Amino acid sequence: MEKYDFESVMDRRPYTACKWLDVPEGILPMTIADMEFASPPEVLEALHRRVDFANYGYTLMNDGDYQAVIDFVKWRHGITIPREHLLATPGVLYTMRCAMYMLTQPGDKVVVQTPLHTPSIKTAGMQGRIPLKNWMRRTEDGNYTFDLEDLEKHFRSGARVLLMCSPNNPTGRVWTKTELEGVADLVKRYDATVVSDEIHRDLVYAGHPHCEIASLPGMADRTITVFSPSKTFNFGGIHIGSAVTANETLREKLRAKLYEFGHECGRPPLFSLTAQTAAYRHGRRWMEELLVQLEANADLMLHYLEGLPVRACRPEASFLMWVDCSELKLDTAGLRSLLAEAGIAADPGHYYDTADIQGYTGEQHHFRLAFGMPRAMLEPAMDRLRKTIRKHF
Ligand SMILES: Cc1ncc(COP(=O)(O)O)c(C=O)c1O
Repeated sequence: MEKYDFESVMDRRPYTACKWLDVPEGILPMTIADMEFASPPEVLEALHRRVDFANYGYTLMNDGDYQAVIDFVKWRHGITIPREHLLATPGVLYTMRCAMYMLTQPGDKVVVQTPLHTPSIKTAGMQGRIPLKNWMRRTEDGNYTFDLEDLEKHFRSGARVLLMCSPNNPTGRVWTKTELEGVADLVKRYDATVVSDEIHRDLVYAGHPHCEIASLPGMADRTITVFSPSKTFNFGGIHIGSAVTANETLREKLRAKLYEFGHECGRPPLFSLTAQTAAYRHGRRWMEELLVQLEANADLMLHYLEGLPVRACRPEASFLMWVDCSELKLDTAGLRSLLAEAGIAADPGHYYDTADIQGYTGEQHHFRLAFGMPRAMLEPAMDRLRKTIRKHF
């Protein structure tokens, strides 16, 4: 069987790709969390077929479209979603925000676990909510785990909503069942609710199975799980997804909140639905081959970073590497200029611990590299990064 193509270099500049906008020639953007690969050809074919039928009127999801979501989740995660538990959504952030509005009032506290990608941190502070940061704890190997004592402090102070990110962006951690049990115990003890952003969950690497916090005892009724095919199949611009909860009251309130904000569940944008159903139905082998490429990319990057005064953990999922550069003692300008000298643009660490990303000039302890790209792009960039760090440190 022919392999899918993860080696061709695409020129996205003419297509107003966010990541490539205003990036000078010679700089490789490793910033925004999308990939430099073409989506599965099966998605392309399905979109072509739908475009060819030149009536683009309002469209409803049919049984087959729902079943495509249910079958994919069963295949990938072994989870059975009862059809009535599933809501069709316009994407993850939109749904996280609607869920947060639905569960809280202005003045309520909302917990997020940092480091975390900026828009998710921002969600916790929207419309007068008070964001509380539950800083993750560093483990001896330099990785991250939950700080349960700190989480309990936030619940004790009155917070009743936790916005989780599982697996985590930017650290690439896939939370183990044991780690999640610690969180779940506190959530139950303080009668809280979890909204779990699981957008990266399909891209877990071998040996790191994804566990839904909703699957833990007593959690199904107090969790809303939110996911999407957009990272898995690289169509972030398509904006579609799903939310699942066993709790009928939460589900109906979320449906109503999505409606209030302009989205009627089950009536997604036509081409988004076409892409989602095709990807879930026919994209499995593509995803498996993508994962091989991503793991190889992660290994290649670690190889290039070996022996340098920076520390990166091997991601357990997705295409993001969180690099600890504290030893370099750089401020924002220094980090940017080091990366620019290496021909790379990357997100500085403070993007992941503050919602106020503009104007921060202080010390930088991390940067994040999005590495979903052909080796022909990645390898020269990592080689330049290695040489530049070697030259200065
Ligand atoms: C953790 C996380 N949540 C949500 C999103 C965005 O999801 P959507 O485009 O479906 O709103 C991203 C994109 O980078 C992400 O990394």
